[in-house]
Amino acid sequence: MEKMTPQVRKAVFPAAGLGTRFLPATKAQPKEMLPLVDKPLIQYAVEESVRSGIRDIIIVTGRGKSAIEDHFDVSFELENLLERRNRMDLLASVRRVSDMIDVSYIRQKEALGLGHAVLRARELVGQEPFAVVLSDDVIDAPKPCLQQLLDVYNEYGASVLALMEVPHDRISAYGVVAAEPVAFNGTSDRLYRVSDLVEKPPAHKAPSNLAIIGRYILTPDIFESIEQSQPGAGGEIQLTDALRHLLRTRPIYGYRFEGKRYDAGDKLGFLQATVEFALARPDLGGKFRTYLKSLKL
Ligand code: UTP
Repeated sequence: MEKMTPQVRKAVFPAAGLGTRFLPATKAQPKEMLPLVDKPLIQYAVEESVRSGIRDIIIVTGRGKSAIEDHFDVSFELENLLERRNRMDLLASVRRVSDMIDVSYIRQKEALGLGHAVLRARELVGQEPFAVVLSDDVIDAPKPCLQQLLDVYNEYGASVLALMEVPHDRISAYGVVAAEPVAFNGTSDRLYRVSDLVEKPPAHKAPSNLAIIGRYILTPDIFESIEQSQPGAGGEIQLTDALRHLLRTRPIYGYRFEGKRYDAGDKLGFLQATVEFALARPDLGGKFRTYLKSLKL
């Protein structure tokens, strides 16, 4: 019998957090607009989504909304100038992303938490499964992380969370799962069936070393679960708490994705990503490497 798993066509990009770890840079612009080398974080995330076949983009904005909207809009003035100066390479680079996506915006007036931000997208998502992508988790992977999750979703038709192993002394900064491994695609150490989730547990109470990273495939019943959720850790409406509620009635899977994740919402993580992305750039890597080597560290 043919499986009737509805296709994931939309991705929600929460970008309304306060970004306090990056003040004052985030006073007037969202941290999602901070550039890694020469592209804002949110563009890396949108490109990952497009490479995973999802072009319907929903961005949840707070302060600094116009910077994000302008970034994904056509800029006639800029394009005209680049054309007149015959900078076709730059013209292509500013056109490429906005040409590939269909983007809508919804406002989160107050930063009441990630769960609350996702709930704001309810009308735009409707009754279909969707992805959630946190742009401050930058993931470098041969197969886009979102595509890895979609492969699991397409098989199981259930919500899927990206997981990563985290050392014991760092685990309390994350949402953490209790989970049992499930054989998938010839491996038994990547896919997990989640049995419980807890947001930012003290290290000694963490149910495992598997932390939830900012990529999710969610079934639309998550919206009711978010509505049921009371403010949790930090007084915010947490997505992890809503997932825990969803787990009472629906299976949830976790996938330990292949690739390297950078926490670009944190200063050190942002610097690490900057250095590694710059080194990997064909137009920049060689000179940058020579420069780094010249530093007497
Ligand atoms: P973070 O937990 O990194 O919080 O949010 P933050 O406020 O952005 O940053 P800090 O901790 O103060 O430095 C994770 C993701 O969820 C979004 C953020 O924009 C980020 O993409 N978010 C968070 C919202 O959209 N709304 C919220 O109310 C909270």
